[in-house]
Amino acid sequence: MNRRYRKTIIAGNWKMNKTPAETKEFIAQLKPHAARAKWCETVLCVPYIDLPAAVKAAKNTRVFIAAQNMHHAESGAYTGEVSGPMLCSLGVKYVVIGHSERRQYFGETDEIVAQKVKAALSCGLRPIVCVGESMAQREKNLTLDHVRMQIKTIFFGVDPKDVKKIVVAYEPIWAIGTGKTATAEQADEVGRAIRECIREIYGARHARSVTILYGGSMNPQNAGELLAMPDVDGGLIGGASLDWEKFVDVMESANQ
Ligand code: 13P
Repeated sequence: MNRRYRKTIIAGNWKMNKTPAETKEFIAQLKPHAARAKWCETVLCVPYIDLPAAVKAAKNTRVFIAAQNMHHAESGAYTGEVSGPMLCSLGVKYVVIGHSERRQYFGETDEIVAQKVKAALSCGLRPIVCVGESMAQREKNLTLDHVRMQIKTIFFGVDPKDVKKIVVAYEPIWAIGTGKTATAEQADEVGRAIRECIREIYGARHARSVTILYGGSMNPQNAGELLAMPDVDGGLIGGASLDWEKFVDVMESANQ
């Protein structure tokens, strides 16, 4: 973390879990802890149907609400989809884009992800855009090349003034939901490469303002070590974010 230049963000990605009633209860428990956690911004990425309950429960708190996906068009004949302006109208502030599960199960490519990032920015949402390598790519020593290519594609055409609004989440696919965590050094190495890539395109001032999260089996036990690294500015937490006490423990780990 480097709080001088950028925000620390602890985000919970609930994936396809929790009902509106469970959402309300979770945020009621989280609220007093989030109020004290001045060292980080707290974000909850909830299913579409939970968004209204989440925004309502999080009103006047330091908890921000994110959607887990959006369509790149503003409106139109896209049955089953939800657009950025629709999310904004609910009071949603962030949107996860290009999660590896969206890429794996729903065919999202870097080009689609790049389109969605621009659509999110244009309606005032902050994208949390996910990148990361497979185990096969890591074993072939292709991690940094792969992630750099993803970053270049995603940032292509982004206006410099919008760069700091983008949050990048480095999520190695092999670490998601597996209990295998990247070491702090691995997470930091990729975080540094991401920042370096942004620096090459936009310069040092922009690059140091971007918050880079780590995601992949992050939990209260390993969060402290990961967050102590200079290019790990927070976490995108799946499994451990479903339990408010564990999530609060991760937030506390960011307080160093
Ligand atoms: P887990 O923390 O369950 O590994 O999930 C990480 C993730 O995919 C967050 O977006």
